[in-house]
Amino acid sequence: MKVTVIGAGAVGATCADNIARKELAEELILLDIREGFAEGKAIDMMQTAALLGFDTKIKGVTNDYAATANSQVVVITSGLPRKPGMTREELIGTNAGIVKSVTENILKYSPNTIIIVVSNPMDTMNYLTLKTSGLPKERILGMGGALDSARFRYYLSQELGCSPADLNAMVIGGHGDTTMIPLIQHATWNSIPVTQFLSPEQQQKIIAATMVGGATLTKLIGTSAWYAPGAGTAAMVEAIVRDEKKLISCGVSLNGEYGQSDISLVVPVILGKNGWEKILDFKLSADEQASFNKSAEAVRSMNQVLIDDKHI
Ligand code: 2OP
Repeated sequence: MKVTVIGAGAVGATCADNIARKELAEELILLDIREGFAEGKAIDMMQTAALLGFDTKIKGVTNDYAATANSQVVVITSGLPRKPGMTREELIGTNAGIVKSVTENILKYSPNTIIIVVSNPMDTMNYLTLKTSGLPKERILGMGGALDSARFRYYLSQELGCSPADLNAMVIGGHGDTTMIPLIQHATWNSIPVTQFLSPEQQQKIIAATMVGGATLTKLIGTSAWYAPGAGTAAMVEAIVRDEKKLISCGVSLNGEYGQSDISLVVPVILGKNGWEKILDFKLSADEQASFNKSAEAVRSMNQVLIDDKHI
Protein backbone atom coordinates (compact mmCIF):
# COMPACT_ATOMS: atom_id res chain seq x y z
CA MET A 1 0.00 0.00 0.00
CA LYS A 2 1.33 3.41 -1.01
CA VAL A 3 -0.07 6.73 0.16
CA THR A 4 1.01 10.25 -0.84
CA VAL A 5 0.52 13.48 1.06
CA ILE A 6 0.94 16.62 -1.03
CA GLY A 7 2.07 19.59 1.05
CA ALA A 8 4.47 19.13 3.96
CA GLY A 9 3.12 22.07 5.94
CA ALA A 10 1.65 21.59 9.40
CA VAL A 11 -1.52 19.76 8.30
CA GLY A 12 0.22 17.57 5.69
CA ALA A 13 3.08 16.65 8.03
CA THR A 14 0.70 15.86 10.92
CA CYS A 15 -1.42 13.73 8.62
CA ALA A 16 1.73 11.89 7.44
CA ASP A 17 2.86 11.42 11.04
CA ASN A 18 -0.51 9.84 11.95
CA ILE A 19 -0.41 7.59 8.87
CA ALA A 20 3.10 6.41 9.76
CA ARG A 21 2.37 5.81 13.45
CA LYS A 22 -0.68 3.74 12.52
CA GLU A 23 1.25 1.93 9.77
CA LEU A 24 -1.50 2.62 7.24
CA ALA A 25 0.96 2.32 4.35
CA GLU A 26 4.20 0.50 3.59
CA GLU A 27 5.34 3.51 1.59
CA LEU A 28 4.42 7.09 2.33
CA ILE A 29 5.48 9.94 0.05
CA LEU A 30 5.49 13.50 1.34
CA LEU A 31 5.78 16.07 -1.45
CA ASP A 32 6.27 19.82 -1.21
CA ILE A 33 7.31 22.56 -3.63
CA ARG A 34 9.80 24.05 -1.18
CA GLU A 35 13.29 22.69 -1.88
CA GLY A 36 14.31 20.13 0.77
CA PHE A 37 11.31 20.86 3.03
CA ALA A 38 9.47 17.55 2.65
CA GLU A 39 12.78 15.67 2.69
CA GLY A 40 13.61 17.25 6.06
CA LYS A 41 10.21 16.54 7.58
CA ALA A 42 10.29 12.95 6.31
CA ILE A 43 13.72 12.31 7.82
CA ASP A 44 12.60 13.87 11.13
CA MET A 45 9.56 11.55 11.17
CA MET A 46 11.64 8.51 10.17
CA GLN A 47 13.88 9.25 13.16
CA THR A 48 10.87 8.67 15.42
CA ALA A 49 10.43 5.13 14.00
CA ALA A 50 13.00 3.65 16.38
CA LEU A 51 11.22 5.31 19.32
CA LEU A 52 7.65 4.66 18.27
CA GLY A 53 8.20 1.31 16.60
CA PHE A 54 6.49 1.83 13.25
CA ASP A 55 7.51 0.32 9.96
CA THR A 56 6.17 2.77 7.36
CA LYS A 57 8.87 4.10 5.02
CA ILE A 58 8.43 7.86 4.63
CA LYS A 59 10.13 9.60 1.73
CA GLY A 60 10.14 13.34 1.21
CA VAL A 61 10.45 14.81 -2.30
CA THR A 62 10.58 18.28 -3.84
CA ASN A 63 7.93 18.49 -6.54
CA ASP A 64 8.91 15.04 -7.89
CA TYR A 65 5.52 13.60 -8.86
CA ALA A 66 7.15 10.51 -10.43
CA ALA A 67 7.92 9.40 -6.86
CA THR A 68 4.18 9.36 -6.11
CA ALA A 69 3.43 6.80 -8.89
CA ASN A 70 0.82 4.15 -8.08
CA SER A 71 -0.45 5.70 -4.89
CA GLN A 72 -3.73 4.17 -3.68
CA VAL A 73 -4.66 7.35 -1.83
CA VAL A 74 -3.41 10.92 -2.31
CA VAL A 75 -4.12 13.64 0.23
CA ILE A 76 -3.97 17.24 -1.05
CA THR A 77 -3.17 19.80 1.62
CA SER A 78 -1.45 22.31 -0.69
CA GLY A 79 -2.43 25.94 -0.71
CA LEU A 80 -2.37 28.92 1.58
CA PRO A 81 -3.73 28.45 5.10
CA ARG A 82 -6.01 30.96 6.79
CA LYS A 83 -4.56 33.96 8.63
CA PRO A 84 -6.36 35.36 11.68
CA GLY A 85 -9.58 37.13 10.68
CA MET A 86 -9.61 35.49 7.25
CA THR A 87 -12.44 33.21 6.09
CA ARG A 88 -11.73 29.96 4.26
CA GLU A 89 -13.63 31.48 1.31
CA GLU A 90 -11.06 34.23 0.78
CA LEU A 91 -8.58 31.59 -0.35
CA ILE A 92 -10.49 30.48 -3.47
CA GLY A 93 -8.50 32.37 -6.12
CA THR A 94 -5.02 31.32 -5.01
CA ASN A 95 -5.81 27.80 -3.92
CA ALA A 96 -7.87 26.87 -7.00
CA GLY A 97 -4.83 27.25 -9.27
CA ILE A 98 -2.66 25.24 -6.88
CA VAL A 99 -5.17 22.40 -6.31
CA LYS A 100 -5.90 22.07 -10.04
CA SER A 101 -2.25 21.76 -11.05
CA VAL A 102 -1.49 19.37 -8.15
CA THR A 103 -4.40 17.15 -9.26
CA GLU A 104 -3.16 17.09 -12.86
CA ASN A 105 0.31 16.07 -11.72
CA ILE A 106 -1.01 13.36 -9.37
CA LEU A 107 -3.14 11.79 -12.09
CA LYS A 108 -0.20 11.54 -14.50
CA TYR A 109 1.31 8.96 -12.17
CA SER A 110 -1.67 7.53 -10.26
CA PRO A 111 -4.60 7.69 -12.72
CA ASN A 112 -6.93 5.55 -10.53
CA THR A 113 -6.08 6.95 -7.13
CA ILE A 114 -8.50 8.12 -4.44
CA ILE A 115 -8.07 11.83 -3.67
CA ILE A 116 -8.78 13.44 -0.31
CA VAL A 117 -8.97 17.23 -0.58
CA VAL A 118 -8.05 19.18 2.55
CA SER A 119 -7.20 22.55 0.96
CA ASN A 120 -9.61 25.39 1.69
CA PRO A 121 -12.26 26.40 0.99
CA MET A 122 -12.71 22.63 1.06
CA ASP A 123 -16.21 22.36 -0.45
CA THR A 124 -15.18 24.44 -3.45
CA MET A 125 -11.75 22.82 -3.86
CA ASN A 126 -13.43 19.40 -3.78
CA TYR A 127 -15.95 20.54 -6.40
CA LEU A 128 -13.04 21.79 -8.54
CA THR A 129 -11.37 18.38 -8.29
CA LEU A 130 -14.65 16.64 -9.17
CA LYS A 131 -15.05 18.86 -12.23
CA THR A 132 -11.48 18.76 -13.52
CA SER A 133 -9.95 15.39 -12.60
CA GLY A 134 -12.18 13.04 -14.61
CA LEU A 135 -12.03 10.52 -11.74
CA PRO A 136 -15.23 8.65 -10.77
CA LYS A 137 -17.00 10.70 -8.08
CA GLU A 138 -16.60 7.93 -5.49
CA ARG A 139 -12.83 8.47 -5.60
CA ILE A 140 -12.93 12.13 -4.56
CA LEU A 141 -13.52 13.10 -0.95
CA GLY A 142 -13.33 16.35 0.95
CA MET A 143 -12.02 16.44 4.49
CA GLY A 144 -14.14 18.59 6.76
CA GLY A 145 -16.81 16.47 8.37
CA ALA A 146 -14.30 14.19 10.10
CA LEU A 147 -12.62 17.23 11.64
CA ASP A 148 -15.75 19.24 12.41
CA SER A 149 -17.47 16.21 13.96
CA ALA A 150 -14.42 15.66 16.19
CA ARG A 151 -14.56 19.32 17.25
CA PHE A 152 -18.30 18.93 17.89
CA ARG A 153 -17.61 15.92 20.13
CA TYR A 154 -14.92 17.90 21.94
CA TYR A 155 -17.27 20.79 22.74
CA LEU A 156 -20.06 18.38 23.74
CA SER A 157 -17.67 16.52 26.05
CA GLN A 158 -16.59 19.78 27.70
CA GLU A 159 -20.17 20.73 28.46
CA LEU A 160 -21.22 17.22 29.53
CA GLY A 161 -18.02 16.48 31.45
CA CYS A 162 -17.65 13.17 29.65
CA SER A 163 -15.24 11.33 27.37
CA PRO A 164 -15.44 12.41 23.70
CA ALA A 165 -15.03 8.71 22.86
CA ASP A 166 -18.47 8.02 24.41
CA LEU A 167 -20.14 10.51 22.09
CA ASN A 168 -21.64 9.95 18.69
CA ALA A 169 -22.13 13.23 16.86
CA MET A 170 -21.92 14.44 13.32
CA VAL A 171 -21.53 17.66 11.37
CA ILE A 172 -22.91 17.95 7.84
CA GLY A 173 -23.35 20.78 5.31
CA GLY A 174 -20.25 22.78 4.39
CA HIS A 175 -16.80 23.14 5.94
CA GLY A 176 -17.28 26.86 6.57
CA ASP A 177 -17.96 28.93 9.68
CA THR A 178 -21.54 29.62 8.58
CA THR A 179 -22.22 26.55 6.43
CA MET A 180 -21.51 23.65 8.79
CA ILE A 181 -24.45 22.05 10.58
CA PRO A 182 -23.71 20.25 13.85
CA LEU A 183 -26.63 17.79 14.16
CA ILE A 184 -27.22 18.12 17.89
CA GLN A 185 -30.69 16.54 17.79
CA HIS A 186 -29.09 13.30 16.54
CA ALA A 187 -26.06 13.36 18.87
CA THR A 188 -25.94 10.68 21.55
CA TRP A 189 -23.97 9.85 24.70
CA ASN A 190 -23.68 6.09 24.56
CA SER A 191 -27.01 5.98 22.71
CA ILE A 192 -28.85 8.48 24.98
CA PRO A 193 -29.74 11.74 23.18
CA VAL A 194 -27.39 14.48 24.47
CA THR A 195 -30.30 16.95 24.34
CA GLN A 196 -31.67 15.23 27.48
CA PHE A 197 -28.69 16.58 29.44
CA LEU A 198 -28.23 20.02 27.89
CA SER A 199 -30.32 23.17 28.16
CA PRO A 200 -31.23 24.96 24.92
CA GLU A 201 -28.61 27.62 25.84
CA GLN A 202 -25.92 24.97 26.29
CA GLN A 203 -26.88 23.40 22.96
CA GLN A 204 -26.61 26.76 21.19
CA LYS A 205 -23.23 27.41 22.81
CA ILE A 206 -21.87 24.04 21.61
CA ILE A 207 -23.19 24.54 18.09
CA ALA A 208 -21.73 28.05 17.87
CA ALA A 209 -18.32 26.95 19.23
CA THR A 210 -18.17 24.04 16.77
CA MET A 211 -18.98 26.25 13.79
CA VAL A 212 -16.15 28.67 14.53
CA GLY A 213 -13.86 25.92 15.85
CA GLY A 214 -11.25 26.50 13.12
CA ALA A 215 -11.42 30.31 13.35
CA THR A 216 -10.98 30.21 17.14
CA LEU A 217 -7.75 28.26 16.72
CA THR A 218 -6.51 30.45 13.87
CA LYS A 219 -6.91 33.45 16.16
CA LEU A 220 -5.08 31.73 19.02
CA ILE A 221 -2.26 30.18 17.00
CA GLY A 222 -1.86 32.79 14.26
CA THR A 223 -2.42 30.26 11.47
CA SER A 224 -4.75 27.37 10.66
CA ALA A 225 -4.86 24.41 13.07
CA TRP A 226 -3.15 21.11 12.26
CA TYR A 227 -3.43 18.39 14.94
CA ALA A 228 -7.14 17.66 14.50
CA PRO A 229 -7.14 18.35 10.73
CA GLY A 230 -4.18 15.95 10.33
CA ALA A 231 -5.79 13.28 12.53
CA GLY A 232 -9.17 13.69 10.79
CA THR A 233 -7.57 13.17 7.40
CA ALA A 234 -5.60 10.14 8.61
CA ALA A 235 -8.85 8.62 9.97
CA MET A 236 -10.29 8.83 6.45
CA VAL A 237 -7.14 7.27 4.96
CA GLU A 238 -7.41 4.48 7.55
CA ALA A 239 -11.05 3.73 6.72
CA ILE A 240 -10.11 3.48 3.02
CA VAL A 241 -6.89 1.46 3.18
CA ARG A 242 -8.27 -0.94 5.81
CA ASP A 243 -11.62 -1.15 3.97
CA GLU A 244 -13.37 -0.45 7.26
CA LYS A 245 -16.79 0.57 5.91
CA LYS A 246 -16.78 3.30 8.55
CA LEU A 247 -19.48 5.94 8.59
CA ILE A 248 -17.74 9.32 8.42
CA SER A 249 -19.14 12.62 7.20
CA CYS A 250 -17.15 13.70 4.15
CA GLY A 251 -17.43 16.16 1.29
CA VAL A 252 -18.82 14.27 -1.71
CA SER A 253 -20.59 14.97 -4.98
CA LEU A 254 -24.38 14.98 -4.51
CA ASN A 255 -26.72 13.75 -7.17
CA GLY A 256 -30.16 14.35 -5.67
CA GLU A 257 -29.25 13.19 -2.15
CA TYR A 258 -30.51 15.62 0.50
CA GLY A 259 -32.27 17.42 -2.34
CA GLN A 260 -29.04 18.76 -3.91
CA SER A 261 -27.16 18.14 -7.14
CA ASP A 262 -24.04 19.37 -8.93
CA ILE A 263 -22.36 20.34 -5.67
CA SER A 264 -19.96 18.89 -3.11
CA LEU A 265 -21.24 19.01 0.45
CA VAL A 266 -20.48 17.15 3.67
CA VAL A 267 -22.82 14.20 4.30
CA PRO A 268 -22.47 10.82 6.04
CA VAL A 269 -20.82 8.24 3.79
CA ILE A 270 -19.49 4.70 4.11
CA LEU A 271 -15.73 4.69 3.49
CA GLY A 272 -13.97 1.64 2.14
CA LYS A 273 -11.37 0.50 -0.36
CA ASN A 274 -13.20 2.10 -3.29
CA GLY A 275 -13.45 5.53 -1.72
CA TRP A 276 -16.93 6.52 -0.57
CA GLU A 277 -19.12 3.54 -1.24
CA LYS A 278 -22.53 4.80 -0.17
CA ILE A 279 -24.17 8.04 0.88
CA LEU A 280 -26.45 7.64 3.89
CA ASP A 281 -29.37 9.74 2.77
CA PHE A 282 -31.41 9.95 5.97
CA LYS A 283 -34.40 12.19 6.59
CA LEU A 284 -33.47 15.55 8.09
CA SER A 285 -35.99 17.57 10.11
CA ALA A 286 -37.53 20.56 8.32
CA ASP A 287 -35.15 22.93 10.15
CA GLU A 288 -32.09 20.83 9.38
CA GLN A 289 -33.08 20.56 5.72
CA ALA A 290 -33.59 24.33 5.57
CA SER A 291 -30.08 24.86 7.01
CA PHE A 292 -28.68 22.32 4.55
CA ASN A 293 -30.31 24.18 1.63
CA LYS A 294 -28.89 27.46 2.91
CA SER A 295 -25.39 25.97 3.11
CA ALA A 296 -25.79 24.64 -0.41
CA GLU A 297 -26.70 28.11 -1.62
CA ALA A 298 -23.61 29.63 0.03
CA VAL A 299 -21.30 26.92 -1.34
CA ARG A 300 -22.84 27.28 -4.78
CA SER A 301 -22.06 30.98 -4.86
CA MET A 302 -18.43 30.20 -3.96
CA ASN A 303 -18.31 27.57 -6.71
CA GLN A 304 -19.49 30.27 -9.11
CA VAL A 305 -16.12 32.00 -8.56
CA LEU A 306 -14.48 28.95 -10.18
CA ILE A 307 -16.61 29.49 -13.27
CA ASP A 308 -16.19 33.29 -13.30
CA ASP A 309 -12.40 32.96 -12.97
CA LYS A 310 -12.35 30.17 -15.61
CA HIS A 311 -10.91 27.48 -13.32
CA ILE A 312 -13.60 25.10 -14.61
C1 2OP B 1 -9.66 23.91 10.01
O1 2OP B 1 -8.87 24.00 10.96
C2 2OP B 1 -7.81 23.34 8.42
O2 2OP B 1 -9.98 24.10 7.66
C3 2OP B 1 -9.20 23.55 8.64
O3 2OP B 1 -10.88 24.04 10.15
